[in-house]
Amino acid sequence: MPAAEAIELTDVTLHRGAHCVVAGLHATFRAGSVTALTGPNGSGKSTVLDAIAGLVAWSGGRVAGLPADVAYVPQSVPPTALPLTVRDAVAMGRWAARPWWRPSTRRDRSVVEAQLERLAVADLAHRSFDELSGGQRQRALVAVGLAQEASVLLVDEPTAGVDAASAVLVLTALAAEARAGVVVVHAAHDPVAVAAADVVVALGQPSASPACS
Ligand SMILES: Nc1ncnc2c1ncn2[C@@H]1O[C@H](COP(=O)(O)OP(=O)(O)OP(=O)(O)O)[C@@H](O)[C@H]1O
Ligand SMILES: [Mg+2]
Repeated sequence: MPAAEAIELTDVTLHRGAHCVVAGLHATFRAGSVTALTGPNGSGKSTVLDAIAGLVAWSGGRVAGLPADVAYVPQSVPPTALPLTVRDAVAMGRWAARPWWRPSTRRDRSVVEAQLERLAVADLAHRSFDELSGGQRQRALVAVGLAQEASVLLVDEPTAGVDAASAVLVLTALAAEARAGVVVVHAAHDPVAVAAADVVVALGQPSASPACS
């Protein structure tokens, strides 16, 4: 159930090990809006998403309004080497709301089927997750994220490697989530994805910032 109103970053600094990646970042990620994070390779887009998801520690500045339920679709996932179907993967998205050892409910199953349809991967539902093409996998991963029904949805490069029609599907799904009150933030190089966002936050070269020296 969406609960966040806005996530506010004030003068945030982020490191990867000893390396300063982001400095002096001010940004507001609002419920109801799709925000695109842009910037050159290595500017820290994925690192900002990692920090919002709790995978990287904030090393400076203030963060307010960050809810506990965050769904994160990463830039890439390694092969699972498990006998996991696409439907299994999307169903695992429901574990965020229900312990894995509890049987799935009718609602869990209907959310999974709805997201498979929404991202046009329903006809691949029985296929091995590891055997999908790059673009198919990207759409399936977005379906996993959507199935979590979190207050915050983070998607790293949602349209990278995805064909034009599928990109429209993905961007339409992200916009609909935002309209439903979710904080949606994605990292993007794709000009179509950036243009479709309500708000754009551009990251620069952190080494130019005094806070990074
Ligand atoms: N796990 C890691 N360990 C150490 N350094 C890392 C790690 N992940 C990223 N970095 C470094 O942090 C910096 C920012 O990387 P990040 O992946 O956030 O950039 P990005 O803007 O998402 O780039 P891209 O457009 O290529 O996806 C880079 O210099 C990168 O080398
Ligand atoms: Mg990245």
